[in-house]
Amino acid sequence: MNLVDVTLFNHAQNQLRGLCDVAGFEPGDETPSVLLRELLGPAGTRPLGEEPKHLSDVADDGTPVEFSIAFDDDGALAVRVLGEAGSDNLGDRGSIAAGKRFLNAVSKRFHIPTERFAAVADLFLPDRPQGKFAVWFSLILRPRARPRLKAYFNPEVRGRDRAKDLVLEGFRRLGLDHAYDAIARHALVRGARDRLSFFAVDLDDSPLSRVKLYVSHESALTADAERAASVVQGADPLRVRGFCQALGGGTTTFAGRPLVSSYSFVEAEPDGPGTYSLYLPVRDYVPDDEVARERVGAFLAGHGLPTDTLDKAIGAVTDRPLQSGVGLLAHVSLRLGPFGSGTTVYLSSEAYGVTPPRGPADTVGSGVINSAIAP
Ligand code: TRP
Repeated sequence: MNLVDVTLFNHAQNQLRGLCDVAGFEPGDETPSVLLRELLGPAGTRPLGEEPKHLSDVADDGTPVEFSIAFDDDGALAVRVLGEAGSDNLGDRGSIAAGKRFLNAVSKRFHIPTERFAAVADLFLPDRPQGKFAVWFSLILRPRARPRLKAYFNPEVRGRDRAKDLVLEGFRRLGLDHAYDAIARHALVRGARDRLSFFAVDLDDSPLSRVKLYVSHESALTADAERAASVVQGADPLRVRGFCQALGGGTTTFAGRPLVSSYSFVEAEPDGPGTYSLYLPVRDYVPDDEVARERVGAFLAGHGLPTDTLDKAIGAVTDRPLQSGVGLLAHVSLRLGPFGSGTTVYLSSEAYGVTPPRGPADTVGSGVINSAIAP
């Protein structure tokens, strides 16, 4: 079969199978594939050689899925798939309908409670959605555990000026009336440069299931992320600084794609966020994926985490030379707080394309200048 005849589902399924092998899944476990097939829907059946009907913002090349491998500090591993449900219809209404179709298809089969989705759906899924997406999902897969699901909504879906109201109302409906205030004081302090970027709910009914709010910090300094972290008990700002230095390679101002903070709340403890995570879009601060891999590897090794697992995970999604592109390693995140900490590496599927590596002169908006001249 010619490479361009491979379908998106085949391509992504191979990658996901490889990642699940690395994470220690039973070889015959078909759950990840079944979920992936449902998530991609009709988009999954298209050969890679055909233009996708919809270019998703999940990944730079329009692929509607992005993988990640989460390294808990205690050694556990999880594989995750962030994705936009596929549909036959173009446009945002199609994508909302596709999201609902996906959730219907999998919720009964995998015992996934949908109450929290239903509680906020009318708020975040209007008839005329604005912005880059309306609803995304993430599949959270751990060996020998039941799969879990998370739904992501866009606070700016009714326009940027409504974002705060939507988030306040979303929290209120989920029993977290006071969640917003502390975040606003620590993470929404730089005017228009701090924006509410995602509102996410775990589709789970345990008292520890989470509601998460994400804030993107445009042109942020490491100190901005440290301040954002400091609201969470047990999130050591020094670890945030070390993370930014290691992954940013000395970048001082993150002027490319933004640093993103997230806060998670559990109903059991509604008053303060229990976890802080910082996402660093490493692809904008390196010349190529080889440099990204070196930085991520050094950071993992410094925390006693296995770099060979990182290399195997990379090998599961691609066999291209890492120097031949940039963006395979899309983001890296650091999670901190009393419920445990960890590092997650986001890996692009690159189904539709690879971003060429950056030359030294090719620095617009990339932050590469920063890393080149930093001490
Ligand atoms: N592709 C988008 C971005 O990079 C959305 C996205 C995908 C994202 N995975 C992410 C954002 C992880 C933050 C963290 O912004």
